[in-house]
Amino acid sequence: MNERPEAAVTYQSYLQLDRLLELQTPRSDGPEHDEMLFIVIHQVYELWFKEMLHELDHVASLFRSDKPHRAQHTLKRILTILKVMVAQLDILETMTPLEFLSFRARLEAASGFQSNQFRQIEFLLGAKNEGALSRFPEGSPGRIALERRFLAPTIWDAFLHYLAGEKYPVPPGHLARDYSRLVEPTPEIQLILLDVYRNDTKSAEICERLVDLDEGIAEWRYRHVRMVERTIGHRPGTGGSRGAAYLQSTIGRNLFPDLWEIRSRL
Ligand code: HEM
Repeated sequence: MNERPEAAVTYQSYLQLDRLLELQTPRSDGPEHDEMLFIVIHQVYELWFKEMLHELDHVASLFRSDKPHRAQHTLKRILTILKVMVAQLDILETMTPLEFLSFRARLEAASGFQSNQFRQIEFLLGAKNEGALSRFPEGSPGRIALERRFLAPTIWDAFLHYLAGEKYPVPPGHLARDYSRLVEPTPEIQLILLDVYRNDTKSAEICERLVDLDEGIAEWRYRHVRMVERTIGHRPGTGGSRGAAYLQSTIGRNLFPDLWEIRSRL
């Protein structure tokens, strides 16, 4: 029987470029020159968010299957992506306030505030906030994905699981905690971490990568709010928040508080 030859894979077909390059559609009349940059940069961010989730899930499963070297390798990749994500804000800062205002009204209530993948990343990193769920319609795929993340263990939980596997005395209550809650600083965990830093180079290196991750997210938040201040000043956000004042309030919360608590005791 003759099989129909399949079309050869090409650069265009593999990357589905026809579809991808049709997805940039400015809403402003003209259209305003800078709206293209605004769309492209947000789309690129969403792609990086997708990749971050992919890699963070991988790190969690590597911790759970006791593969610390692979987990560390993947964490390094995530940190490199995060650096690129922070650096990308430089491009958007070439857009002046007036250039942004020329099409801002066309965004209506749209805002990064509504980024489902960003909330999934926050949840996976431990920044759980039930209020974020209600911004997505009940039963929608985004809401379902976020609800799943809300109840699921975080990267920190996976790391504690790894430490328990290394025979550290992680209290069982911590391994089976209510994952929808924020991780609170805990004296027992801090004693373990002090031991890790003093006696276990391999695990201490992983702790340092987690601190890098915490700092990297904080850096993104800081750079984003500075960009917002220079672009729209103290105007409210299109997403309905107080704008820069709201964003300022999200800075300064540590994702992995125990790793910060122990630093003055090392
Ligand atoms: C001119 C550029 C930008 C401006 C003026 C801006 C403004 C804002 C404002 C005011 C908020 C607060 C929520 C609200 O809208 O009320 C916000 C939140 C947010 N923005 Fe932007 N943004 C810009 C670019 C970006 C880019 C490039 C991204 C990348 C995806 C992004 C992602 C986010 C995210 C994830 C939030 C939620 C943060 C949180 O709740 O902690 N923004 N933005």
